[in-house]
Amino acid sequence: MLARPLQLGPVTLETNLMLAPIAGWCELAWRETCRSMGGVGLACTDLLSPQGLICGSEATADLARTSEFDQPIGMQLYGGDPGVLAEGARWCADHGATVVDINMGCPVDKVCKKDGGSKLMCSPDLARRIAEAVRSALPDSTPLTAKMRLGWTEEDAERNAAGALAVSLTEVGVCGITVHGRTTEQLFRGQCRREGIQRVVESVGEATGDAASGGVPVIGNGDIRSATDVVEMMNETGCAGVMIGRGSFAVPWVFREGWEAQLAASEGRDPLDLEPSEDEKLDLVLAFFARLREYRHEAHAMHVIRQKISWLGKGINQSHCRALKDSVRAARTPGEVIGAVEAWRAGRPVRV
Ligand SMILES: Cc1cc2nc3c(=O)[nH]c(=O)nc-3n(C[C@H](O)[C@H](O)[C@H](O)COP(=O)(O)O)c2cc1C
Repeated sequence: MLARPLQLGPVTLETNLMLAPIAGWCELAWRETCRSMGGVGLACTDLLSPQGLICGSEATADLARTSEFDQPIGMQLYGGDPGVLAEGARWCADHGATVVDINMGCPVDKVCKKDGGSKLMCSPDLARRIAEAVRSALPDSTPLTAKMRLGWTEEDAERNAAGALAVSLTEVGVCGITVHGRTTEQLFRGQCRREGIQRVVESVGEATGDAASGGVPVIGNGDIRSATDVVEMMNETGCAGVMIGRGSFAVPWVFREGWEAQLAASEGRDPLDLEPSEDEKLDLVLAFFARLREYRHEAHAMHVIRQKISWLGKGINQSHCRALKDSVRAARTPGEVIGAVEAWRAGRPVRV
């Protein structure tokens, strides 16, 4: 399955790599920044409340905001009420969603208490009814996908609960399944278990056929940090695509490297070195900051850049960009953020 663009129902993506929804990170500015580096087949909004969309909540609208460059875009919904989710899905389709995704993996109390997120893995009948209702609310041209974990408990993972749920969902029209290789109880502890993802790939493959021949693709997710991880995840699990979340924080070019690594592996050659120069990485920080200011507001942009510069700095230079991080964190105005980056670029001592 290496280097095959992903097919989600009627939609063909340019690659098989997806930017994961990460609440607090994956707003429009970050999605565009990752896309600008290349290799992103699909990016997704953070989880959206369907009630928020329907009632016109400003906060939800901010999360759902997209642009011409932010295509193709998945919009992710959460909740436990089929009717409300169906209405939310219609809103998404009317507001530019290429794909609608249902969250079945979020472990957060606020989401699970409303029967949404991972709680749906404990209620497979409800999960199926939701998928059915959402599918019939969407136009045929909009694929429906679901994102889940291996199960709520260890026992769920052992009996391949995710495989059974995934197969049930494909029967009512879900045409892509993402699996994060941990249980809900694990939260983010331990390692992503690729053998669990492999079992889901096998179950879905048996039920719908091989993804290479039109079966429903399973997308592997968890702990991908590099292009090598992408190829290993695909080879070890047989998954048709890979979703990357936290690994993109420091290395937003991991998608283009991951795609190139697949092309190289399938052609039997060494991958090209696609790591951006240090100058390009600094430009990326500035472009991200500019997008934050453009799409939201100055206070938000300042808050986000101060918070995220540690991650971005790791990708710029692991060993010696402490001064850059410190000066961006200390900046009080947008001009000072830009000045700090430019001063660091010029190799001058940074003063804010
Ligand atoms: C802070 C944080 C927020 C997240 N928000 C979401 C979310 O809104 N929707 C979702 O499906 N998954 C969410 N996830 C899970 C990620 O999409 C992904 O499944 C998980 O982080 C494992 O992949 P990774 O190791 O590549 O990050 C979140 C994870 C983190 C750490």
